[in-house]
Amino acid sequence: MLMEEIQKKGSLVFAVNGEKFELPCIDPSTTLLQFLRSDTCFKSPKLGCGEGGCGACVVLVSKYDPKLKKVEDFSVSSCLTLLCSLNACSITTSEGLGNTRDGFHSIHERFAGFHASQCGFCTPGMCMSFFSALVNAEKGNKPNPPPGFSKLTSSEAEMAIAGNLCRCTGYRPIADACKTFAADVDIEDLGFNSFWKKGDSKETKVSKLPPYDPTKNFSTYPEFLKSESATNLDSSRYPWYSPVSIEELQSLLNSNLTENGVSFKLVVGNTGTGYYKETQRYDHYVDLRYIPELSIVKRDQMSIEVGATVTISKLISFLKEESKVDSGSYGKLVSKKLAYHMEKIASPFVRNSASVGGNLVMAQKNGFPSDIATLFLGLSATVSLMTSHGLEKLTWEELLSRPPLDSRTVLLSVSIPFKKDQSSLQNRSKFLFETYRAAPRPHGNALAYVNAAFQSEVSLYHNSVLINNIQLAFGAYGTKHATRAKKVEEYLTGKVLNLHVLHEALKLVKLAVIPEDGTLHPEYRSSLAVSYVFEFLYPFTDVHSAISGGLLAGINDISVEEVSESSNDGCISQGRKQTLLSSAKQVVESSTEYYPVGEPLKKVGAAMQAAGEAVYVDDIPSPPNCLHGAFIYSTKPLAAVKGIQLKSNQLTDGVIDIITFKDIPSGGANVGAMTISEPEPLFAEDLVRCAGDRIAVVVADSQRSADVAARTALIDYDTANMDSPMLTAEQAVEKSSFIQIPPFLHPKEVGDFSKGMAEADHKILSAEIRLGSEYHFYMETQTALAIPDEDNCMVVYASSQNPEKAHHVIASCLGVPEHNIRVITRRVGGGFGGKSVRAMPVSTACALAAYKLRRPVRIYVNRNSDMIMTGGRHPMKVTYSVGFKSSGKITALHLDILINAGITEDMSPVLPLSVINSLKKYDWGALSFDVKLCKTNLTSKTTMRGPGDVQGSYIAEAIIEHVSSLLSMEVDSVRNENLHTFESLNLFYDNIVEAGEYTLPSIMDKLAVSSSFFQRSKVLEQFNQKNTWKKRGISRIPIVFEAMQRASPGKVSILQDGSIVVEVGGIELGQGLWTKVRQMTAYALGLIESSWAEDLVEKVRVIQADTLSVVQGGLTAGSTTSESSCEAIRLCCNVLVERLTPLKKQLQEKNGSVDWPTLIRQAQQQSVSLAANSYYVPEFGSRSYLNFGAAVSEVEIDVLTGETTILQSDIIYDCGQSLNPAVDMGQIEGAFVHGIGFFMHEEYLTNEDGLMVSNSTWTYKIPTIDTIPQNFNVHVLNSGHHKKRVLSSKNSGEPPLLLAASVHCATRAAIKAARKQLKLWDKLDASVSEFYLDVPAILPVVKTQCGLDYVEKFLETLLAQKSN
Ligand SMILES: Cc1cc2nc3c(=O)[nH]c(=O)nc-3n(C[C@H](O)[C@H](O)[C@H](O)COP(=O)(O)OP(=O)(O)OC[C@H]3O[C@@H](n4cnc5c(N)ncnc54)[C@H](O)[C@@H]3O)c2cc1C
Ligand code: FES
Ligand code: FES
Repeated sequence: MLMEEIQKKGSLVFAVNGEKFELPCIDPSTTLLQFLRSDTCFKSPKLGCGEGGCGACVVLVSKYDPKLKKVEDFSVSSCLTLLCSLNACSITTSEGLGNTRDGFHSIHERFAGFHASQCGFCTPGMCMSFFSALVNAEKGNKPNPPPGFSKLTSSEAEMAIAGNLCRCTGYRPIADACKTFAADVDIEDLGFNSFWKKGDSKETKVSKLPPYDPTKNFSTYPEFLKSESATNLDSSRYPWYSPVSIEELQSLLNSNLTENGVSFKLVVGNTGTGYYKETQRYDHYVDLRYIPELSIVKRDQMSIEVGATVTISKLISFLKEESKVDSGSYGKLVSKKLAYHMEKIASPFVRNSASVGGNLVMAQKNGFPSDIATLFLGLSATVSLMTSHGLEKLTWEELLSRPPLDSRTVLLSVSIPFKKDQSSLQNRSKFLFETYRAAPRPHGNALAYVNAAFQSEVSLYHNSVLINNIQLAFGAYGTKHATRAKKVEEYLTGKVLNLHVLHEALKLVKLAVIPEDGTLHPEYRSSLAVSYVFEFLYPFTDVHSAISGGLLAGINDISVEEVSESSNDGCISQGRKQTLLSSAKQVVESSTEYYPVGEPLKKVGAAMQAAGEAVYVDDIPSPPNCLHGAFIYSTKPLAAVKGIQLKSNQLTDGVIDIITFKDIPSGGANVGAMTISEPEPLFAEDLVRCAGDRIAVVVADSQRSADVAARTALIDYDTANMDSPMLTAEQAVEKSSFIQIPPFLHPKEVGDFSKGMAEADHKILSAEIRLGSEYHFYMETQTALAIPDEDNCMVVYASSQNPEKAHHVIASCLGVPEHNIRVITRRVGGGFGGKSVRAMPVSTACALAAYKLRRPVRIYVNRNSDMIMTGGRHPMKVTYSVGFKSSGKITALHLDILINAGITEDMSPVLPLSVINSLKKYDWGALSFDVKLCKTNLTSKTTMRGPGDVQGSYIAEAIIEHVSSLLSMEVDSVRNENLHTFESLNLFYDNIVEAGEYTLPSIMDKLAVSSSFFQRSKVLEQFNQKNTWKKRGISRIPIVFEAMQRASPGKVSILQDGSIVVEVGGIELGQGLWTKVRQMTAYALGLIESSWAEDLVEKVRVIQADTLSVVQGGLTAGSTTSESSCEAIRLCCNVLVERLTPLKKQLQEKNGSVDWPTLIRQAQQQSVSLAANSYYVPEFGSRSYLNFGAAVSEVEIDVLTGETTILQSDIIYDCGQSLNPAVDMGQIEGAFVHGIGFFMHEEYLTNEDGLMVSNSTWTYKIPTIDTIPQNFNVHVLNSGHHKKRVLSSKNSGEPPLLLAASVHCATRAAIKAARKQLKLWDKLDASVSEFYLDVPAILPVVKTQCGLDYVEKFLETLLAQKSN
C-alpha cells in the first residue's frame, strides 16, 4: 500500500524494535504494556505494579519531529502509556537493544559482568531507564568523552535509575554497571566484576569492558516511520481525537461527541491512572498534545508561561536553561529552585510523559497531593481555562478554591509571574524563594509528607531584617488542596524578624497546617511545616550572620559578591550531593581448591535477563482460548458471605465465570495450601476468616476484565451474631486461640533463670517490644498458568518456591491422582519466602478454574491484591525481663513472645525456633521463654527472608540497648561483654560448633579495624557537639544464624554432543542457585580429568524444575537450597565419573589423549548410561550449622525532617569457602538492603479490620538507590575448611538481612544525640537514652523521638539566653 494512502487513512502505525505495527482498530484504553505483552513477542517490559511506581515496564519511546527533522527519545512507563498516544512513534524495548541472537548491548553485558541482575525481573526496565539517559546524554553538547565512555556523568547515571525498584541486588552493582559508561567515573571506584583481574591497570580495565561506541548507537527511530509522523489518528475509525487547535478542541467539546451519555476523557500522559485506577471504560479519548499553544513553555519580561501539556521533564529542562541565562536574580532563583524540586517528583520515566496540566487538574479535581500545585500557589501563578462559556483567566489560588472542574473544562496554561526584579527595587530589598519536601525517599518516587513553597521580600531595617511581604504555601499534608498560611503571612508582614517573632510565627504555623482526620502521622506533618518555616526564616534573625553568609547579598551596602540562597546558612546546610553513592568496596576471598567452584563467575543467563529474554510464567504465551482469573477477597475479618454480585460495566464484559469452593469436583477437597499439619482451604466456605481471605476467582477473557470485575465486585456480608474478630496477639491469648508448635520445633532453654536473676545487680522487668509485618515485594507478583491436558491431566506453570507441595495440593483439590498433575517452574521473579506457601493457592485456583472450564487459565495477581492477600512477616509482641551486672554482663533473660501467625498454620510453627536461635547470639547467662503462636483473624503470616531470625536478632539488640541505657554505658561495650565464648556458644547451640569454627569474635575485631569504628565514634561525637540540626550515630552488631540443610534431589544427563542437562529440586529465585549448580557440575565431572573443568562449565544447562521429572524437589528456602542442590548434583556426577573413568583410561591408553566429546561419543557407543539421579540427605549430625557476620553502620539524621541518611555500612560475613563469591556478595548486599527496608522504610499498615491498606507502590516504600549506604563495604570472609559443609561453603541468602539492624541501632544513637542536645537546653524531661525506637524507623518516628517541638525548644532556649 502506498504511504500516502496510509496517511490518508490515519491508521495507528508505530514500530517496536524496528518492526512495523499497523492496527486497524483498538480499544483506546489499551496500554502499551498490555499490547506488547499480549500481542507481540517482546516480553522484556514486565508488569510489576501497573502504577508507574516500579519501573519494570520501562521502554524507550522515540518521536520524530518532521519540521525540525529531529528524533526525541525518552523513557516511559509502558503500563500507563496508552497505545493510541503512540501513533508514529517508535518503541525500543530491552530485547531491541540487543539479544541472544544478534548479540547483546554493552549495557546488558556490563550489567551481567557487574553482577547487577539476580532474579532479573527488574533488569530490562533498569536497562531501558539507563539507555534513555545514555541516548539523551549523547545528544547534549558536552565535550566528547574518552573512547569507551559516554557523555553521561556518574551522578546522571545514578539518577537515571532512581525510580526503578529492585528487591534483590541492593542497587550498588547496578549503579556500578551504569557508571562504567560515565565519562567522569574513576574506574578504580567501580565494584567487583567479572571483567577485571586484580592488578589490571586503568587502561586495561577500560579495554576489558564490553565496548560502548556511541557513534554506533543504533537508530531508535526507523526511517520507514518518518513518513507517518505528520498524520493524526483518524477519529472516524478510532475513538481517539487529536484536535490541533483550541478552536477545534472547543467545537469538539461542544459537539454531540459529548452528549447522550457518551463518556470521554481528556488525556495527556495518562499517568494519573497510576494513582486513580480506572474501573470504567470511556467511549472516547481527547488527546490534548497536538494543540501547539498547550505545549509551549516560554519566558517573557513578565512571566514564565507553561502550556498545560508540557511534561514535567520538559519544564525542568527549560527551567535549568533559564537558571543559566541572565533572567534576573529572581528568575534565576525561581527557575533553579523549581527545577530542583521537580526533579523529585515521581521518576524520570513518569515525568517524561506526565504533564504539568494533568498534575494540576488532578490536584484541583481530586485533591491529589501534588507538589506542583503547592509550588505554583507559592508563586502566585495564574491559569487560563477553557470552559463551556469561553476562555477564562484567574489565579491558581482561586481555581483551587472552586468546585472540581467539570469534564469539559480544559486547563490551557499556567503563568508564573515575575516579581519586580532586584534592579528595579533599587537594591533596597531582596527576594527570597525556597521550596521544601520531605518524603520517604529523598530523590523522588514518593509523595511528600508535606511540601511547601515560600517567597518573601525582605530588606534591612536598623540592623535587622524586615519582612516586607511573605507568601507561605503548604500542600500534601492531608488537605484537600494546597493552602496558604494566611494568618502567618499577615502576622509576619511588616515585622522585623527576630527570635521572638519567629517563635510566635511558628505557633501560628502549627495552627494553620493541620491535617484532616484520618491522615497518617498528623503531628509529624504539622511539625514538619514548622521546620520548613524555621529553616526559611531563622537565618535572617541574626543579620550579621545572614550578611556574612551572603544571604542578603544584592542589597545596598552589602558587598558580598555571590548571590546565595536562603538555605545556605552554614548551620542548616542542605548538603546537596554530587553523587548518591560515594564509594563501595567489595573484598572476596575465593578458593581454587574445587575449581571452578569458588570462582566468582557471573550469573547464568544474566545478560539474557537484562535483555528481557528470560522467560517467567507470565512470559509464556497464552495458549488459544486462554482465560484469566482474579481473586475476590474479603474486606471483613469475620463474616458470612451471603452473595457476590459483579457490577455490570463495559470493562467487565468479558467475565465468564466465578469460581468458588462449590466448583471443587467431587472427590476433591477445598484445599489451597499444605504445610506442617493443617491444610488450608482454597476458598472461604460459609465464613470469611480474615480480611484478605479468598472468596472466589473471577474468570474473564482478559486479565484486565477479571481484575476490574474482582475490584468492583460487591460482596454481601453478614456479621450478625458473629464473634468479634481477633486481630491482635493479645486478643488471641484472651480466647486461647493458638497454633500448635510440634515438639521437634520447640526451642531449648538454657540455664536457670531464677538463679541468673538472683546474681544480677540490676533488673528490667516486663519491658515491651513490638514488631510489625513486612511485605515481600518480590517484583513478579504471584502467578500461574494451568493448561488442561488429556485424560484429566493438568500442566501448571507456577512461580513457586515449592512446586512439589503445590503439585500435591492441586491433585488433592481436584481429586485426581498425583501423576495427573505436572508443575513446572523455570525461574521465579523474586520469592523471599513469599512463594513458599502463599503461591500454592494461586496455582490451585488456576488449576481448578481450568479444570472446570476445560480451558487454559492464567492468574497474574495484581500488585494491590497481592499485597493484601500474601500476608507477610509475623508481627510480634515481646515482653522481657532481664537481669544484669553493673559491668553490663547479662545474667538472665526471660521472654514472653506472642507471635501473630494469622489465620492458618502456614510455616508459622518454625518461627519460635528461629526467633530464639538468632536471639541466642549473645550469652544471656540463663535464658527462658514462653513463645505462643497466636491464631488471629489476619491473613496468614508466612515465611519471609530470615523469618523469625530477623526479629530474634533485633530483639537481642533492643535488650542490649535497653541494658546499656540503664547503665549509661556505651552500647558497644555491653555487646562485647555479652558476646559468646566458644564454650557458651556451644552451650546455647547444642555443641554445634567445632574448635576453630567460631569466627565471630575475630570478625568483630577485624571489622572494628577495617571500618575505623572507634576513631569514627570519636569524630562523630565532635560532630554532634558542633551540629544542632544534624546528628550522627554509629553502631556495630554481630549476628549468629543457624542454617538447616534439607534433603534435595538431582539429576544429571549427558547428551550426545557432550552438553549436559541438569535438574535439581531447588528453584532459581535470583539467588544464583543455577550458577552454583553449574560450577559444581563442572567441578564434579571434571574429576575425570581436571583440565576439562573450565570448559565443562559452558556445557552445563540447568533446566526448569518439573515435578514429574524430578520428584521430592522440596522447598527452596532457608538459604541452603543452593548448597544442597549442589551436593545432590555432586552425587550424580560421582556416579557418572565412576562409569566414565575406566573408559577414559582405556581411550587414553589407546589414543594417548582423550577429550570430553570423544569420551562421551565412545560412552554412547558402548551403551554406558549417561544419566544419573540422586537424593542428597544431609547426615543427621551435620544438618545445622552456624553463620557469623557483623556490620558497622553510621547514619546521619536530619532533626528537622526526621530523614536518615546511611553514611556508611561495613560488613564482614563468613561464607565458609564460598561456592561463588560474586553470587554470595550479591546475596549479602541485597539482603542487607532488604533489611534496611524492614528496619527503616516499610510501613505495613492495616485498618481496623486488619485489611492491609498500604497496598500499593504509593504507600509501601522499599529501599531505592537513594536510600542505601553511601559508602558500602562488604568483605566475604573465607573461613577455610568445614568438613561437614558442602565443599566447606556456608549460605548467604538470609543472614545478612539481620545485619541491617545496625542501621536502626545507629539511628537510635543519633536520636540519642539529639535528645542529649535537648537535655543540654534543659528541655527534655524524659531520659536521653531510654526510649523505644519503632521498627521501621521512618521519618515521623525519628522526628518524634527527637522531639516534634525541637525547633520551638531551640528558640525558647535562645530566647531565654537572650533575656538573661
Ligand atoms: C508513580 C508516580 C509518582 C508521582 N509522584 C508525584 C509527586 O511526587 N508529586 C506530584 O506532584 N505528582 C506526582 N505524580 C503525579 C504526576 O505528576 C501526574 O500523574 C501527572 O502530572 C499527570 O499528567 P498526565 O499528563 O499524565 O495526566 P493524565 O493522566 O493524562 O490526566 C490526569 C487527569 O487530568 C485531566 N487532564 C489532563 N490534562 C488536562 C487539561 N489540560 N485540562 C483538563 N483536564 C486535564 C485528565 O482528564 C485526567 O482526569 C506522580 C505520578 C506517578 C504515576
Ligand atoms: S509496572 Fe509500570 S511502573 Fe511498575
Ligand atoms: S534482580 Fe532486581 S528485582 Fe530481582
